Amino acid sequence: MKLWSGRFEKKTAAEVDDFNSSIHFDWRLYRHDIRGSIAHARMLGRQGIISEEEADLICTNLEQLLKDIESGSINFSTEAEDIHMNIESLLIERIGQTGKKLHTGRSRNDQVALDTRMYAREETDQILQLLSALQYELLKTAEDNAETFMPGYTHLQKAQPITLAHHLMAYFEMFRRDMERLLDCRKRINIMPLGSGALAGTTYPLDREWVAEELGFSDITRNSLDAVSDRDYIIEILGCCSMIMMHLSRFCEELILWSTDEFGFVIMDDSYSTGSSIMPQKKNPDVAELIRGKTGRVYGNLIALLTVMKALPLAYNKDMQEDKEALFDSLDTVKKCLKVFTGMLSTLKFSRKQMKQSALSGFANATDAADYLVKKGLPFRSAHEVIGKLVLHCIKHNLSLQDLELSQFKEFSPLFEEDIYHAISLETCVNERKLPGGPAAETVKQAIKEGRTWLDNVLSNLATA
Ligand code: ARG
Repeated sequence: MKLWSGRFEKKTAAEVDDFNSSIHFDWRLYRHDIRGSIAHARMLGRQGIISEEEADLICTNLEQLLKDIESGSINFSTEAEDIHMNIESLLIERIGQTGKKLHTGRSRNDQVALDTRMYAREETDQILQLLSALQYELLKTAEDNAETFMPGYTHLQKAQPITLAHHLMAYFEMFRRDMERLLDCRKRINIMPLGSGALAGTTYPLDREWVAEELGFSDITRNSLDAVSDRDYIIEILGCCSMIMMHLSRFCEELILWSTDEFGFVIMDDSYSTGSSIMPQKKNPDVAELIRGKTGRVYGNLIALLTVMKALPLAYNKDMQEDKEALFDSLDTVKKCLKVFTGMLSTLKFSRKQMKQSALSGFANATDAADYLVKKGLPFRSAHEVIGKLVLHCIKHNLSLQDLELSQFKEFSPLFEEDIYHAISLETCVNERKLPGGPAAETVKQAIKEGRTWLDNVLSNLATA
């Protein structure tokens, strides 16, 4: 029998039960639902809304139910619709009349909001941990490569030389922002909605603050209508997930490119690569490609929920049940991708020689040649013109700037001296760029140190949250 069957004369059509039911995906809220119900029942007992004995009986049986679910001995029913009513029905089956008192002063609408917030909070913390592991891996690899020269690109054309450490630390910054976004979003997740009832609160003297504290929330929601119909925090998480995937996909794209024969900057480990069923020579970067591909579904979930919520009237509407599959799928996907990406990164072999060789060609030092003339007194725009001509000359004769004789330099400008070779060497180009944020080895080492301190700090705060 349904928990709400009183005003109905007919049974629900089987296909409606099937259509309406969310138990096949919201079962995973069982722990949060039970924990929330225990706090609610305790509070009802403390407030004298039910007796302390009744609260005890409810709580011990909910705890037993939790054990039974975890041991796999419970089958949830589609007819009971969702995880909330499944658990309540199971409790009533076990303890009868007293079990029927659990839902006093509560609605499924504030209950589902509570459970989803607890789930989201836990998952956010897991993603923060996974991001930290990735960040530590980036710091470690960057530390080893502060003097590994490589070309930096714009338009995917060689631009100016940088180091691998500087490149990796660019990703550190992206993931740092992702972590900050999640931490900020967590503040809005961590608000307790119970006591909002179906939409208009309740007449029982509930102690909302006590429940909030019991469940580790930092505050209670301030408007009952909003509390049961707010899915902003889920959309925010989906946004955070999308941004993480966007960053991962950019990183993956670069690794895919770098592992080509044309680039040859990186060799992926056999354990993170796959072969071809027909071409014996192939070693494919499937992991990186799949992460790049999964970015699409994570974006899709964000757009799906934004669209579900568009123009929905207050307060709860069943449409909102569509939030969970999107949320679960994005969280699962991001967690899997972060884990496998960190594994892939930690097994990469960078071909330092190849990277350096590449940085030496393609006129990545042309800006420095122009800056050299500026330091000798030429206005920058004129220096740009001179070096442009010099580059064109080199292209025609298949040379690099550093291959030219001093006399050839002088044909383009009398300002060139012997020190031009030092000025356009890879070491100078990189290590003289030592403004904060630049690629110079000493600057990047400083950035790595700062990054590590920041990360240690975030993690220790997380542990106490
Ligand atoms: N399974 C529902 C959901 O996920 C729970 C809330 C249902 N409330 C209701 N009045 N039908 O949204």
